[in-house]
Amino acid sequence: MKNTLIAPSVLAADFANLQRDIEMINTSEADWFHIDIMDGVFVPNISFGMPVLQAISKHAQKTVDVHLMIVDPDRYIKTFASLGANILTVHYEACTHLHRTLQAIKAEGMKAGVALNPHTNVSLLEDVIKDIDLVCLMSVNPGFGGQSFIENTYIKVEKLKELIIRKNAPTVIEIDGGVTDKNAKQLVQAGADVLVAGSFVFGAKNPIQTIADLKKITAL
Ligand code: DX5
Ligand code: ZN
Repeated sequence: MKNTLIAPSVLAADFANLQRDIEMINTSEADWFHIDIMDGVFVPNISFGMPVLQAISKHAQKTVDVHLMIVDPDRYIKTFASLGANILTVHYEACTHLHRTLQAIKAEGMKAGVALNPHTNVSLLEDVIKDIDLVCLMSVNPGFGGQSFIENTYIKVEKLKELIIRKNAPTVIEIDGGVTDKNAKQLVQAGADVLVAGSFVFGAKNPIQTIADLKKITAL
């Protein structure tokens, strides 16, 4: 049976009750914490930064998956390692020397991820896929939670899965944006390994049950 990983996005948490929401994730069947860092330049929104990540890491008892939506992410690789990131994902569109950036992330003891905007073709990763631990396919335009899922993502997952198998790469596929109980199963059938869910989890009456439901739906 496939164990699909569920990564609630803390962006949709109640920041005035952040410790409560972190403990909810700790208690739940969720696998990772997904942390969205936005700089107001790469994306038209600013989320939160280092002190908040440090506070989250202090309480998080699961893998901390940090998604950087910032320009020139190389400047902060060491900082994010020291703040407790276990996985550091940079955007393909924000990196001039992606191969070098991936090595720098790994040198700090983190897993290295690459995120692709909805318009970015997965074939662009062909020459670097073996160096990537995780590809995050954006299924919305990055910058905001609560947007609608872009249907073209299914085809991208299939193409990426084919590339990973062909190159015998160790890469896992993460989907980020608009994930719900309506698209989760089809995403996993297409080849997804990790599903990020923000508003679907935190907007639910019972987030713990909603996470359990997502685990169940995606256990193929
Ligand atoms: C979007 C972020 C996502 C977002 C997902 O820029 O990268 O992680 O928090 O939120 P939902 O699940 O509400 O689309
Ligand atoms: Zn994200």
